[in-house]
Amino acid sequence: MIKNILFLLTCLFTLYSCTNRLKEIPNTPEDYLIIPKPQSLQMMDGRYSIDGKTKVSGDEGLVSEGNYLAELLSSVSRQTITFDSKGNGNIYLELDTSLSLEEEYNLLVEYDKVIISGKTPRAVFYGIQTLRQLLPSETGPAKSTGELTIPATMIKDAPRFAYRGMHLDVARHFFSVEFVKRYIDWLAIHKMNTFHWHLTEDQGWRIEIKKYPKLTEVGAWRNGTIVGPFPGTANDNTKHGGFYTQEEIKDIVAYAASRHITVIPEIELPGHGSAAIAAYPFLSCFPSEPSIVPNDRISEVSKRAQVNGQPKIVQESWSVYNDVYCAGNEETFVFIENVLREVMELFPSNYIHIGGDECPKENWKRCPQCQKRKKEEGLADEHELQSYFIKRVERFVNSKGKNIIGWDEILEGGLAPNATVMSWRGNEGGITASRANHNVIMSPNSHCYFDHYQSEDREQEPLAIGGFLPVEKVYAFDPIPEELEEDKRKYILGGQANLWTEYIDSEEHAEYMFFPRMTALSEVLWSPKESNNWPDFKLRLGSFKSIYHALDINYAKHVFKNSDESEN
Ligand code: ACM
Ligand code: ZN
Repeated sequence: MIKNILFLLTCLFTLYSCTNRLKEIPNTPEDYLIIPKPQSLQMMDGRYSIDGKTKVSGDEGLVSEGNYLAELLSSVSRQTITFDSKGNGNIYLELDTSLSLEEEYNLLVEYDKVIISGKTPRAVFYGIQTLRQLLPSETGPAKSTGELTIPATMIKDAPRFAYRGMHLDVARHFFSVEFVKRYIDWLAIHKMNTFHWHLTEDQGWRIEIKKYPKLTEVGAWRNGTIVGPFPGTANDNTKHGGFYTQEEIKDIVAYAASRHITVIPEIELPGHGSAAIAAYPFLSCFPSEPSIVPNDRISEVSKRAQVNGQPKIVQESWSVYNDVYCAGNEETFVFIENVLREVMELFPSNYIHIGGDECPKENWKRCPQCQKRKKEEGLADEHELQSYFIKRVERFVNSKGKNIIGWDEILEGGLAPNATVMSWRGNEGGITASRANHNVIMSPNSHCYFDHYQSEDREQEPLAIGGFLPVEKVYAFDPIPEELEEDKRKYILGGQANLWTEYIDSEEHAEYMFFPRMTALSEVLWSPKESNNWPDFKLRLGSFKSIYHALDINYAKHVFKNSDESEN
């Protein structure tokens, strides 16, 4: 009996001293290296230990987020941690309707509990992402206790911008479903909420459309690709292509939704349409005119096809082509509406991106049908004809309860009434559109084009399209232009970086171009402008890179070179 009591007392004492020990561990600023930097973070003494007793529970509306967190904790702790909506977990997720913002969350960590609350499941998900960065296994063992512990804290956080996007061009080079899912995971970790999926181009059509099977039978494949920088030294004469079935697209959209990411599809028009034209030549003003590959860098197979009476080919070189959708032929609009009808069924997004950039007007100028349209509609020039085209597509998209986004060229000839403008040729388009009370997404090529070089020493870099965009410059990006009037700033919804893949034909290379620039952009889009501080960010990035390691990401090392010789 006495022995039993002694044993019980020993157990209680051990438990008491253990929890007490956890309660009193002091933390330092190095324990809280989070990107994007939270709005407010209170450092506290004590650490919560993830161990066999850890249980995740929470509101019934948070099953998906609870399972996501339980899976994450199980994988880092190598223990089985489960989510139970009814349980009394020591990690608790809750919906708090008293919070005012959709994406606002609170994260409380104490030695004996963790509570993540948010108005919406999305907000709670962001709290989970912050918690993830407090885990030693993700950010390096901050405390060498040998335990998996999280520093106590009270974080209150919400994003600066509502639109936080990343783009991926899968048309110049095709990327697999698995890669796209990995990409979506990276976006989620960075608290991004939008994936802009560039699905159609001159060099490939990547989305199955049931009504037009040739779009993928023909349009998803090119017979070769130029070698080296445009216009190239040769053609590699290697077939390249691929596409996503509608089932695969549904799967990706659902995967993204479970990570609170909206997928915006881009269906390019009226330019960048060579692949669709190769599949359905009636879309061109001149169906029997052969496609022209600059400097005649055309593949042998395509050359033979043209000799044998098949003039249109999926493009094999980069740049911009005169062969665009005919704006005079009614059949063009029937095609576009049929395509968009299927696209809108697949993507729940409120926005459909319709491209609108880089549409040469040469063919329209010499096409009798386009000229007839111009005259009948009383259009002054081909810019107004383009505006007619975009407005007509917008009316159709609006009639289905959705809205269009277009690149800033859609301003030329008059902006469609409800369009959101994606400003890429600098800030000017975004400034003009917001002054006209249109919503804007800022993606200037000066700061947001991740296809640009990361070093001035180009010899040391994989081939890129040009430019120079180091991480520091991405971090210096402000989506709100200084000169924009106060009352127009509300139209700037946020920002986005783009990865055009002319010269990026592998996953490793894409990763290299994304990281760490995406991490810098995430802070620009999320954190308060006042907390923007390059040395401080760089310090936190040094810790964040352990996430790259954990996820096996091939990232560019330039920014780490002086601070961490082991990275050289
Ligand atoms: C673009 O880079 N052409 C939008
Ligand atoms: Zn025409």
